[in-house]
Amino acid sequence: MTRHLITSAIPYINGIKHLGNLVGSQLPADLYARYLRARGHEVLFLCATDEHGTPAELAAAKAGKPVAEYCAEMHDVQTRIADGFGLSFDHFGRSSSIQNQKLTQHFAGALYDQGLIEEVEQRQIYSETDGRFLPDRYVEGTCPNCGFEDARGDQCDNCTKQLDPEDLINPRSTVSGATDLEMRATKHLFLKQSQMKDQLDAWINSKTDWPVLTTSIAKKWLHDGDGLQDRGITRDLSWGVPVKRGNEDWPGMEGKVFYVWFDAPIEYIACAQEWVDAGKGSDWESWWRTDKGADDVRYTQFMGKDNVPFHTLSFPATIMGSGEPWKLVDYIKSFNYLTYDGGQFSTSRGRGVFMDQALEILPADTWRWWLLSHAPETSDAEFTWENFQASVNKDLADVLGNFISRITKFCRSKFSEDVPAAGEYGPAEHALIADLTERVARYQTAMEAMEVRKSAAELRAIWAAGNEYLQAEAPWTTFKTDPDKAAAQVRLALNLIPLYAVLSAPFIPTTAASMLESMHVEDAQWPDDVPAALGQLTPGHAFDVPEVLFTKITDEQRDEWAERFAGVRD
Ligand code: 2FM
Ligand code: ZN
Repeated sequence: MTRHLITSAIPYINGIKHLGNLVGSQLPADLYARYLRARGHEVLFLCATDEHGTPAELAAAKAGKPVAEYCAEMHDVQTRIADGFGLSFDHFGRSSSIQNQKLTQHFAGALYDQGLIEEVEQRQIYSETDGRFLPDRYVEGTCPNCGFEDARGDQCDNCTKQLDPEDLINPRSTVSGATDLEMRATKHLFLKQSQMKDQLDAWINSKTDWPVLTTSIAKKWLHDGDGLQDRGITRDLSWGVPVKRGNEDWPGMEGKVFYVWFDAPIEYIACAQEWVDAGKGSDWESWWRTDKGADDVRYTQFMGKDNVPFHTLSFPATIMGSGEPWKLVDYIKSFNYLTYDGGQFSTSRGRGVFMDQALEILPADTWRWWLLSHAPETSDAEFTWENFQASVNKDLADVLGNFISRITKFCRSKFSEDVPAAGEYGPAEHALIADLTERVARYQTAMEAMEVRKSAAELRAIWAAGNEYLQAEAPWTTFKTDPDKAAAQVRLALNLIPLYAVLSAPFIPTTAASMLESMHVEDAQWPDDVPAALGQLTPGHAFDVPEVLFTKITDEQRDEWAERFAGVRD
């Protein structure tokens, strides 16, 4: 058995995430974590909220709350929603934790000691009214290239020209609208990533089994244009990890904080410390330090494609550059985007389904199933209500739900709520067992490889095999002429239910648990031996006919939700 460390990209604290965010990192990470646990591996599955940076500060100001209070509240909100979706994190931490603060300062000190940090004098826009330096994208004005009046300080959205804030005509602060802006000198720390280019290049080249989406993005950043650039790792903000080298003050850097993208991935490590400090685990170093046992750990990261450069280059540069024996990632599973009904999800326009809204209208398992079975793996994927309705009604209600309801009800009406004893298995039963044995092997292979859509397709085929067997053998017809044979058919079909529950649990954990409960199975094990697993409900084993597992989505509901989540049109 292997020890598996799994992390999902940590969601920003401001606002509730949409379904596209969920399927791009947390949900597939949960699928994998649940699968590996079910196979008997030791798993540490970590996630956290990403709490620093200007967006968090501005969101708190908008909510009229001190930023620390805002973050604490939003962390609780995100925790509740994650629980609602059945995300089985061993710990859901916070990047603003004291553990992360100390560790981030530690890394900065180690990188400094290795000669990998440079102090750079810069000029940056300062707003007198706001009393702060403004990040480029918080300055707007007229584009010198096309005359567009709302061009951002980093880019004009109208003509796409890359800009510097001082290029803008009549610049203003988007924080306050203030126009009393000036260029001021400031000093920042830069991580000399360019010095590590060859090391990073060799490391990425050694990852021949990684998804092309992951390595192609890394290689683009390493080789395109001027190649890998040094990266500013500090900001003139008040909310964040104060700039220090270890425990020491950093002369000239007083009042500054580390850039959010410097401290966020370090939270993956700090989160393991938080997990221990919260009394949930012990020995976090055995997961993260290769000199303390983490050599045996297999570390997998899940994220959307926009996060890939930071995880393939910047964070590894931090780890490698420290000169200390920290664990590097073994596999990066990245995702494309999920679009919403022909466009993008949009928080500001209320377009698309957000995680809290999803749970208000339907059980988590319906969302989990649709999202995972349509995961944007090889290309972007699109959510449409028609597709969602069809998939829920067909896969979950007609195939899985109907199979279970039909066989349990038939057994109750013709025999009893106990597994019938009579009859022997014939060729059709042996063929089904052999077929399922092969299918389960294929499902496992897809799950091991983190091929999410393929795994869902294999699972769906496993469910369908049961339905097809019932359809073909029709115990309700057999019963009229040969009740013993019908009993044997029912016995096998009932045994499919706990098998399906265990196999399906990584996708639909709540439903799987209620399937096991109605079959009175307490210690369900992974079917390492499928024929043996299909004999676990022995004659006389009592069960209950379960409640309806999945309710179909009506056309009226579909249309109402489509309208409700369409957002305000521009
Ligand atoms: O894109 C995002 O949502 C970022 N908050 C992800 C950070 S992942 C990491 F590096 F911690
Ligand atoms: Zn322009």
